[in-house]
Amino acid sequence: VLDGRFGPGMRLPATRDLARQYGLARGTIVAAFEHLRAEGYLEGRVGSGTFVRRVLPDDLLEVRGRQRPAPAAVPSAVRLSAAAERARLFGGVDDAPPRAFRTNLPAVDLFPTALWAQLVARRCRRASLSVLRGCHVLGHPALRDAVAEHLRVSRGVRAAGHQVAIVSGAQEALDLVARLLLDPGDRAGVEDPGYPGASGIFAAAGATVVSVAIDEHGAVVPRAADSRLRLVYLTPAHQCPLGVTMSLERRLAFLEWARRTSTMLVEDDYDSEYRYRGRPVPALHGLDRHGRVIYVGTFNKVLFPSLRLGFVVVPEALVERLAALKSIATRHAPVLEQLVLLDFVADGHFGRHLRRMREAYAARLQALREGAARDLRPWITLSDIDAGLQTVAWLGGGVSDEAVARAARAVDVDVTPLSRYARERTCPPGLLLGFGGVDETALAWGTRTLARALRAMRRRS
Ligand SMILES: Cc1ncc(COP(=O)(O)O)c(C=O)c1O
Repeated sequence: VLDGRFGPGMRLPATRDLARQYGLARGTIVAAFEHLRAEGYLEGRVGSGTFVRRVLPDDLLEVRGRQRPAPAAVPSAVRLSAAAERARLFGGVDDAPPRAFRTNLPAVDLFPTALWAQLVARRCRRASLSVLRGCHVLGHPALRDAVAEHLRVSRGVRAAGHQVAIVSGAQEALDLVARLLLDPGDRAGVEDPGYPGASGIFAAAGATVVSVAIDEHGAVVPRAADSRLRLVYLTPAHQCPLGVTMSLERRLAFLEWARRTSTMLVEDDYDSEYRYRGRPVPALHGLDRHGRVIYVGTFNKVLFPSLRLGFVVVPEALVERLAALKSIATRHAPVLEQLVLLDFVADGHFGRHLRRMREAYAARLQALREGAARDLRPWITLSDIDAGLQTVAWLGGGVSDEAVARAARAVDVDVTPLSRYARERTCPPGLLLGFGGVDETALAWGTRTLARALRAMRRRS
């Protein structure tokens, strides 16, 4: 208790368990508890166990003899691997409630939690021994088939269920891809500006990360001199962060280049389900005739971020190697969550949810457009997007997007500077504005408040 290992208010283990653990008579432990209770260190609540008192006698007397030990320093003798030294902490969730214009956040306020709870309860009631034992390393076969079917119909991905691996999300999929294809010193192409989560993984794997430019047709096919790339990471449906959709000509050119140079293309189809205009563009994977595309997708954005379920589709020849790599890290994704998701898809809720969300996001995007036109016209130009949950707001010349993000944060508005996505190429100052995570009222408040912050910035400068 004095060392702080049992903190204030903590419940102590049962006397019976302590007696067994230390090989003592239970009466000895009960006597020790009584002694500590009498001295004011412990308190008991009838029927609910023995707890450390919130205020200890030592605190009252201010004569604490023993100090809490200082946090242990990392012993200098621990030699870290090069990979551990290279890895950078990525992502993470803060505790603040969703606010305008948080990026990468779906409408958790509209998720049918009661329905999800029913499906969880039904699966728990019926949980058979096989559910408790585990499942195939690449996921529950029925869910893998359902994902393959969904991708065939909605994205033109032509793959059988056994080519689909269920993983914890796009991030795990990219980590597996890196371990599958990259050795330290290999070259990996990434879009620039592009998703830092991907370049971070490739860099941590020891690869040399090479920038791939973006133009109005999407990522630009690397020149012949760059042909020693092992893989190129692409977001063709909705380039992250600029929102460009890759043209058909460019897709065909990339596939032809990949075939000629024996490069693998990693297609991250992270938020293509939400398209507001025009016909859905089929995935790059559906055009591939030579097994050069690995397709990555996630349920964490279409359902809710903490679900942590996604998938990766690999060519037939890579399935076994992928299974080996997955098995030594996480064995398999949690079975219960996979089965609840399977029910959500098979019972038609997934399709209905996508349709409802498409309407909700279209309304939220419209609210952002109106708010930007009303409040932010002098400062920003909203880019015109067809799909996704976020859009770029270009800032007028001479303004630093980091400075704007700081000013916005001070008034509780969340904007992501575009410069954080740039690697070697400088992109014009801009902000990434998410519109999916909060409702129309919050978005209108966001544009008004951001305008106030920008006015104050201009006055100060
Ligand atoms: C382009 C892109 N790919 C992948 C992800 C990660 O998805 P997941 O949460 O499934 O790991 C994100 C997350 O924001 C993203 O922006």
